[in-house]
Amino acid sequence: MNDLSTPDFKTLEQFIIEQQEMSGGATGAFSRLLRDLSVAAKVVNRDMRRAGLVDILGASGEVNVQGEVQQKMDALAHAEFVRALRRGGETCLIGSEEHAEAIPLDGDRPGEDGRYIVLLDPLDGSSNIDVNVSVGTIFSVYHLPEGAAPTLEAALQPGTEQVAAGYIVYGSSTILVYTTGNGVNGFTLEPSIGEFILSHPNIRTPETGTMYSVNEGNYNSFEDGLKRWIKWAQAEDKATARPYTTRYIGSFVSDFHRNLVKGGIYIYPASAKSPEGKLRLMYESNPMAFIVEQAGGMASNGRGRVMETQPTALHQRTPLYIGSKAMVEQVERFLAGEEG
Ligand code: AHG
Ligand code: MN
Ligand code: MN
Repeated sequence: MNDLSTPDFKTLEQFIIEQQEMSGGATGAFSRLLRDLSVAAKVVNRDMRRAGLVDILGASGEVNVQGEVQQKMDALAHAEFVRALRRGGETCLIGSEEHAEAIPLDGDRPGEDGRYIVLLDPLDGSSNIDVNVSVGTIFSVYHLPEGAAPTLEAALQPGTEQVAAGYIVYGSSTILVYTTGNGVNGFTLEPSIGEFILSHPNIRTPETGTMYSVNEGNYNSFEDGLKRWIKWAQAEDKATARPYTTRYIGSFVSDFHRNLVKGGIYIYPASAKSPEGKLRLMYESNPMAFIVEQAGGMASNGRGRVMETQPTALHQRTPLYIGSKAMVEQVERFLAGEEG
């Protein structure tokens, strides 16, 4: 961890500029996009920190496109990210959990329309806000394909085409973690100076772990292979450090961050209640898949690599098994009926 009293701490801004210089030929547009996202994160962070004191907690009375009750903070976070990206001018299209259709942005600098597509879960884990549990934002960035118009079709690219992905956790501290395909780095917000400071350079996730995160209340409707793996994880065996430990916050971004740092697996499978799983491919699963792979981990839909899924809709869902490589591979074997 950096000591702010020493002069050599690195801000996110400095880090982004250094990366831009190293990638020679970059125009700076991408660096400005990352800056826009981090500014929106700071604004949402400020609102989150005041949420108990001003009237922004609770349900808004609206239902979003997923049929879920929208919290006031969902709408506020969505509005802040759209505003920052519109103002920044580098983004031509936004897809958000909180908006049914993709949102084209008219560049406010004529002739310099943005070339990036940003897909967002503005507030993940929002049902946890009222009870003071960590929530976050997840983002995924694509290029607008050469010659394409900024429409939904242009956004329907597999996760392997992402140029960047990241998340912010508004937790006991606020941390922004992102990748551009060249490793994963984490920056903690230092509130007194309002800067994200490099605190987790080159994050590598443990090859295996002893934590699993799944909503076990749905156990009866899981497929047999997963049920067998859960029973295996609960069995006692000193050599493999079992029984494993269950950790489930119900806020994907927070569960994911903990497992990334400590090792573990997060599972949101298909079930009778959610036949396609619950998490959204484009703005929850793909960005986290990009990050976990860059950190040495793995993301599967139970049958194959999540990022290779060809999307057909902005809000489509996917089953998700994500985390330490050895654990994801092992669950895949159980799902395929090859135990152990
Ligand atoms: P969101 O708040 O963006 O709608 O996402 C909620 C998601 C995710 O954060 C969490 O892991 C999952 O829903 C929890 O679902 P269950 O309550 O079904 O376990
Ligand atoms: Mn979410
Ligand atoms: Mn959300």
